[in-house]
Amino acid sequence: MTFDLSTSVATDLQVLLARWSAAIAQLQAGKTVGSVEPAHGNGVGADTGEALDLGPASLTVTVGLGPGVFDERFGLADKRPAHLAAIPTLPSDNLDEQLTGGDLSLQACADDPQVAYHAVRDLARMARGTATVRWTVLGFGRASAGPSQSTPRNLMGFKDGTRNVTTDDEFDRFVWVDQPGDGAAWMRGGTYQVVRKIRMNLETWDADVVSDQQRVFGRTKIDGAPLSGGSEHTTPDFHAAHGDGTTKIDARSHIALAAHEANGGVKILRRGYNYTDGLNQYGQLDAGLLFAAYMNDPEHFERLQRKLGASDRLNEYVSHIGSAVFAVPPAPRKGSYIAEQLFR
Ligand code: HEM
Repeated sequence: MTFDLSTSVATDLQVLLARWSAAIAQLQAGKTVGSVEPAHGNGVGADTGEALDLGPASLTVTVGLGPGVFDERFGLADKRPAHLAAIPTLPSDNLDEQLTGGDLSLQACADDPQVAYHAVRDLARMARGTATVRWTVLGFGRASAGPSQSTPRNLMGFKDGTRNVTTDDEFDRFVWVDQPGDGAAWMRGGTYQVVRKIRMNLETWDADVVSDQQRVFGRTKIDGAPLSGGSEHTTPDFHAAHGDGTTKIDARSHIALAAHEANGGVKILRRGYNYTDGLNQYGQLDAGLLFAAYMNDPEHFERLQRKLGASDRLNEYVSHIGSAVFAVPPAPRKGSYIAEQLFR
């Protein structure tokens, strides 16, 4: 869920982040954000109640600050994280203004969607008077968590998340804002989040022969193995060729274009979820991928998408309709609150 700030007072933002921090701590412990039944039923509930009895369900809530927080409104311009700026228009973009941008974001993940929805709903209620909801997506499925788990599949039926950032070393190099020169001190230990709402033309995709689907990704559908051979976690060989000289992994396949080997070594942490909005105006399935990625510089996403948007075989089947970028401050220590250092 993303929000537009309706205040221009920095203290209002500060108070909201502090109240959100306290509420998130309650929610992650499986508690309510306040009374469900105040004054014996004669008061308005502080908590809406639909997550009662459901427990914490592994809830996590990630808070992001959009570029607008650092514009002229709040006097925080000199605290702008070095790499935070609106994402420029990229090739093949088909963005809907109503699914784009935002001053704040909340990403709630849980084992039970009711727990996740309760969290964003009640946090949005707390924001009233300070921020209004801009756009929201309910995702489902499971984000990839590395080779220790089976890799989840996207709605195209392919394993998504096979070659992802997994080791601590990779997190330090590619995800956490940590190196000197990464910018604002208050962001140290945080990251940047890029979100894209990507619609899939599922009817067209489902009518495609599986061998072509595999060519699009450069991997097999059932096992997720690279077309150069081996099993799911075998390193793809982008040079391996057939007898006629054509490469086994198509040069315009999704993985050939996105792999770090083809992008100056850059990696991003992908944690996407599937979504559906029912049917579109033509009666077709309206569904796709809520692509969420984390990195220590959003330029890394831009670099990849500039290339993918221009040449990816996948473009025939997808359309980027939503987009936003947020600075994600580090999780607060006990007794502190999200982005506290920003206001020092
Ligand atoms: C609906 C859109 C998309 C779908 C269905 C999709 C699906 C996939 C699949 C199936 C794989 C292969 C398995 C894996 O390693 O995870 C993959 C890999 C990858 N994707 Fe995507 N993806 C989409 C959009 C994007 C976007 C927008 C980016 C970044 C701009 C991206 C970056 C990557 C990267 C970096 C890899 C790993 C490539 C490698 O090192 O082999 N993907 N994606």
